[in-house]
Amino acid sequence: MTSIYLDNAATTRVAIEVAAVVEECMRADYGNPSSAHHMGIAAEKWIKQASDRVLAAIGDPGGQAGHLLWTSGGSESDALGVLGAARALKKRGKHIVYSAIEHPAVRESAHLLERDGWRVGAFSVSSAGVTEVERVLDAVAEDTAVVALMLVNNEIGTIQPVAEIARAVKERRPCIHIHCDAVQALGKIDIDVRALGADSVAFAGHKLHAPKGVGALWLRRDARIVPLWTGGGQQDGLRSGTYNVPGIAAMGEAVRLACEGDGLAERRARWMEFAELLVSAAHQSGVSVAINGGDGHRAPHIVSLAFAGIPAEPLLHVLESRGVLVSAGSACSERSRKPSPVLTAIGASRDDGTIRFSFGRDTTRQDIERAAEILIDAVKDF
Ligand SMILES: Cc1ncc(COP(=O)(O)O)c(C=O)c1O
Repeated sequence: MTSIYLDNAATTRVAIEVAAVVEECMRADYGNPSSAHHMGIAAEKWIKQASDRVLAAIGDPGGQAGHLLWTSGGSESDALGVLGAARALKKRGKHIVYSAIEHPAVRESAHLLERDGWRVGAFSVSSAGVTEVERVLDAVAEDTAVVALMLVNNEIGTIQPVAEIARAVKERRPCIHIHCDAVQALGKIDIDVRALGADSVAFAGHKLHAPKGVGALWLRRDARIVPLWTGGGQQDGLRSGTYNVPGIAAMGEAVRLACEGDGLAERRARWMEFAELLVSAAHQSGVSVAINGGDGHRAPHIVSLAFAGIPAEPLLHVLESRGVLVSAGSACSERSRKPSPVLTAIGASRDDGTIRFSFGRDTTRQDIERAAEILIDAVKDF
């Protein structure tokens, strides 16, 4: 039995075109981009091409407003944005705030600062899973140095009004560094880093069909950060370490595939239809289901469904045994027994199990129709 993979917010399959780029890069252009000879120059070209592609896709063609730092993925990009900025700006104040629905890569980076005497706070979100500007401004104090707010939430898919909040925060205190985790946004919604108003923006390759272990941090030109470690001084000394050239080339190709032409709009429409299909099939068959975060402003590839009175984990395992691979939430977050902070933040009932369905470029309508049948049967068996 081949599985129906609906866990693309966790990670995605590497696209064939991307794997081909990785192979070519590893076999033919394996030089170190820091080397002065032609093999180094060939490797450097891959990095330049990938940087150009990513910068164009995020609304900063040619890097007019900022530049990219290549990292090992979303977690490192978040750590570099949050910790790097906080440590650079500590003379301005030692207070950092973040939204209650941030990924642990941001949340735990902020808490790491507590050991160095920082005050750390979270601002709440509405029951629709959206941050409200007043709540952020209430959390901002005289000594706030960093504000972190994600663009798309990884559990419920809600889109945060980052541009509006960044504008309001900068009006209050222009020197605050705003970090934005856009890991779940790249290749899923339009991104314009210049309009976003953030000073650093984090991305990861493996959420859009590049391999795991590569990511990027876009840094506004005048933003200040300090490196997390030292070494050979690559990337202006801000991220030492030999470049992961095949990974970087892969991310460039994956971004091209995700964002070129009308591909994004076409996929977005398809994914919205898939979410709609799952929900309407459940409703039509009398299964009680609600969309976590409501039916509002959501990224198209994630739909998080709460099933009244059904425990998430057993449902997840039944779905898996019948060939549908998804993620669970509710009372416990995946593999840990702790409540999901995101579902807690939106006031989700602990009695209603949450299953997150997330789509990728390989997901087909037949997958969704079959998954809907399996889901309905599974829920009815409880
Ligand atoms: C919103 C968000 N931020 C950060 C990360 C971490 O990215 P990575 O797995 O590449 O370290 C993830 C991955 O799940 C994510 O969804």
